[in-house]
Amino acid sequence: MPTISLVASKGGVGKSTITSNLGVALHQLGQRVVLVDADDQQTLLQWAAVAAEMEHSVPMVVGAGDDVRRVTTELNSSYDWVLVDTPGRHGRRLLGALGASDLALIPVRPSAADAWALAPVLEALGQVREVREGLPRAFLLMNAWQRTRMAESAEQALGSVGDLDVLGVSLGNRTAYAEALAAGSGVVANEPGGTASREVRELVEAVLTVFGVEREQEEGTRDSNSDPQAGSRARPA
Ligand SMILES: Nc1ncnc2c1ncn2[C@@H]1O[C@H](COP(=O)(O)OP(=O)(O)OP(=O)(O)O)[C@@H](O)[C@H]1O
Ligand SMILES: [Mg+2]
Repeated sequence: MPTISLVASKGGVGKSTITSNLGVALHQLGQRVVLVDADDQQTLLQWAAVAAEMEHSVPMVVGAGDDVRRVTTELNSSYDWVLVDTPGRHGRRLLGALGASDLALIPVRPSAADAWALAPVLEALGQVREVREGLPRAFLLMNAWQRTRMAESAEQALGSVGDLDVLGVSLGNRTAYAEALAAGSGVVANEPGGTASREVRELVEAVLTVFGVEREQEEGTRDSNSDPQAGSRARPA
């Protein structure tokens, strides 16, 4: 089943935030989701501990070190989705995560520095694709994006970085993301009616589209807090 890794050669770009939010949103759709935390900072493991304390329903988080590829591959057959959160700078784990993934999402913030910092990730991606016949697919994901001059110059810098697809969904710079992480939750559960929640649902749609998954929208309303399984189901096309 699909494995997605969140990768970047820079810290603080939103890898853990996006992994947790995507995980909670897919979980709400009734999907069997597991998150792999391959970062020694253990952001997701700590997030899961808060979630357990608060009795929030979130996907299970499994810790992985240098053996991220083996751990991820072993989990693959038991889940619909495996999402891998990787450390900012760790060549071996980056290669391990890319080696086990169908899709890599590369968050970038709107700064030229983020664009320039993409080179090591693109190099690793190239190495892995050479031995895996073009896999994993990869998309840049604009995170904490704002329509500013800085974003414009970042977009220009991105244009010169290399041949990389950009996901047609971006996430804004919103406190809701930081709040949901701290609360051991995801924005779709913590603030279901908010703009961040809408963005994450769009992200889910974009990811499902990448994998050619059709979503069945069922009749009736979707109240994510009262019934996490309600509203919609995803199924392979
Ligand atoms: N879209 C966003 N809007 C506002 N704040 C954000 C957004 N995405 C991430 N953040 C905040 O930015 C900080 C870094 O995010 P996060 O920890 O997810 O990055 P990371 O890439 O996992 O970092 P690291 O490399 O250190 O693991 C966090 O405080 C998080 O709450
Ligand atoms: Mg992180």
